[in-house]
Amino acid sequence: MDQIKRYVKEKLNLEPTGHDYYHAERVAKLAQKIYMDESDKIDDSSLKVIIASSFLHDTIDDKIEKNQNIEKIKKDITSILQDDFTTEEILSIFDIIENMSYSKNLDKKQELSLEGQIVQDADRLDALGAIGIARAFAFGGKKNNLIHDPNIPPQLNITAKDYKYKNGTTINHFYEKLFKLDNLMNTKTGKKLAYERTQYMKHFLDKFFNEWDVKY
Ligand code: ADP
Ligand code: NI
Repeated sequence: MDQIKRYVKEKLNLEPTGHDYYHAERVAKLAQKIYMDESDKIDDSSLKVIIASSFLHDTIDDKIEKNQNIEKIKKDITSILQDDFTTEEILSIFDIIENMSYSKNLDKKQELSLEGQIVQDADRLDALGAIGIARAFAFGGKKNNLIHDPNIPPQLNITAKDYKYKNGTTINHFYEKLFKLDNLMNTKTGKKLAYERTQYMKHFLDKFFNEWDVKY
């Protein structure tokens, strides 16, 4: 696992949109917690696949880097995994990291393994709560989006194409995506944590709009 961590650290070290190494590390911790909470019996192979997929999940994604050489990245990852993972485990890791993203699931929901569902829940949880708020504004700033514009209404039914290319505001992103996540969670633990984190964000927005309107 050390080699995987080193690879992710190198690749995502200065990633400025909230998909940095520490995001990957939090996803791994959250995914492990969900797996422990949900299972009666811990399977070492499943746990290994969950942790490796969590660390690697943002290394193949064109939101991090445009026009990446996907085949080269897959080859690099495979050679790192080969020492500690079976061929079957490597295939399940790729199946997870290539199919779990929000945009991949917008037009058609992908079928994920249980391990994949857990990593997807963990990734979605890191888009929620205090960390989620911080990440959303970091992402919006990097993309030159406005914080908020009362004249731009949120687009609630967004397709995968529009999701990638439109320039909305960060506050709208809360309604367009983040507040939908708690209904999309796969696991019981994920749902519970997503609900709590979403409540916190709604509380943040109440304060935000009060301050915006200077209501005291
Ligand atoms: P995924 O959730 O599958 O990784 P995303 O590209 O949506 O796919 O990345 C997730 C993170 O990026 C979230 O924390 C989310 O808030 C942030 N993000 C994505 N799009 C926007 C946006 N338009 N404005 C603000 N934050 C965004
Ligand atoms: Ni992620």
